[in-house]
Amino acid sequence: MFTAVSRIDTPAPFFGGNRLVARRAASYTTGRRVVQVHAVTNVSRNPNMGKLKAGYLFPEINRIKNAHLEKKPDAAIISLGIGDTTEPIPAPIIDGMISSVSGLGTPAGYAKYGGYGPGEGQAELREKIASRFYPGGEVSADEIFVSDGSKCDISRLQMLFGPNRNVAVQDPSYPAYVDSSVMNGHATSFDASTKQYGNITYLSCNSNNNFFPNLAHANDSEIIFFCSPNNPTGAAATREQLTDLVAHAKENGSIIIYDAAYASYIENPDCPKSIFEIPGADECAIETCSFSKYAGFTGLRLGWTVVPENLKFADGFSVKADWNRLMNTTFNGASNVAQAGGLACLSDEGWNAMTELVGFYKENASILKRTFEDMGYTTYGGTNAPYVWVSFDGQDSWEVFTEILEKCDIVVTPGSGFGPAGDGFIRASAFGHRDSILEATERLKKAFTK
Ligand SMILES: Cc1ncc(COP(=O)(O)O)c(C=O)c1O
Repeated sequence: MFTAVSRIDTPAPFFGGNRLVARRAASYTTGRRVVQVHAVTNVSRNPNMGKLKAGYLFPEINRIKNAHLEKKPDAAIISLGIGDTTEPIPAPIIDGMISSVSGLGTPAGYAKYGGYGPGEGQAELREKIASRFYPGGEVSADEIFVSDGSKCDISRLQMLFGPNRNVAVQDPSYPAYVDSSVMNGHATSFDASTKQYGNITYLSCNSNNNFFPNLAHANDSEIIFFCSPNNPTGAAATREQLTDLVAHAKENGSIIIYDAAYASYIENPDCPKSIFEIPGADECAIETCSFSKYAGFTGLRLGWTVVPENLKFADGFSVKADWNRLMNTTFNGASNVAQAGGLACLSDEGWNAMTELVGFYKENASILKRTFEDMGYTTYGGTNAPYVWVSFDGQDSWEVFTEILEKCDIVVTPGSGFGPAGDGFIRASAFGHRDSILEATERLKKAFTK
């Protein structure tokens, strides 16, 4: 029988993470024997986890939304928040997965695609990704590593480089870059006054610099995370800007981790869809991309990362060889059903359906952008990306977030959740059913027109 005891067993306190924790004990009896157990383990908390400020942004927003729903259970919440896809996966892509699933139920199908596949992805899919997404031949199939998504690859890339790196990020940017950098030991503690972690270089992106940072601040950075089109600002970098970025990385010997998760949303022909369109990028960049926002695969999980043959560490060792080694140790290949879905996306029918789906979300983005502008707000993004970045003239973005939630039952994302330079903005996501987007615009117009 377990008898909970709350007395302090060890008078001397010890440090777990950066919090003072008293070691508590409990006891239970088996027969006539009383066994003492620790109510906490002897394992100290990873101090890097202890440095992380709050919950990951989106679970935090969900928590606030749920608290709002507790106060107002009948609220018909519309989410322009997390950036999760809402529309069904198109039929030609589903059909590809259905055949894969039924194939797995046959001896021949199982022999071909059952069991563990190649850790780097099915050869046919890698070939198709190369020809569809890199039509200029700038990337070859054997430089493509298929995965369960970009977010997972971002963390595995952190493992590839190991701790204590000088890392630069665009500010604002997708929170996974900073949070995974902190977890992997690149950062010192969070400074509440600057709202930045020490030892991470924040490259401010704002309307004054056309959302392209001053790269001189990253002269000492070994790793530069760069996302185009950017989440959250929606800014897509031009060929000239990316040429500067590549030149900067080559001059300083840095590696760019280029996140192209929204590249298919680019309509400006002057904005490359891949960093590898820039000559020399194969010697200084890794690119990660995903089917999540192209085909509604956020829950299915399929992405890829390109590690070029020509990318080398300081000692000349191949980055690709290490990545291959790491992937084969930490990952057993993407689901074969998801890979069948990926292949179906890249057939002519699948490609057209995917393009239409992206077009649908882009139309949502332009509805949102137009609405905010008609209401008197300055907006950015929303043209080459599924996100509209709305200026609230320097107002605290968590306050704006709360006000929009309370007045309109609409969840947006506070700009400061993406970095200190995001304060004063909110991000409106275009991932939503059309009727929800239209309803949201009506509610916003009523409550927030200037
Ligand atoms: C910039 C960016 N990169 C990567 C991801 C994650 O993609 P995946 O679903 O492939 O993990 C997201 C998801 O929102 C994102 O916004």
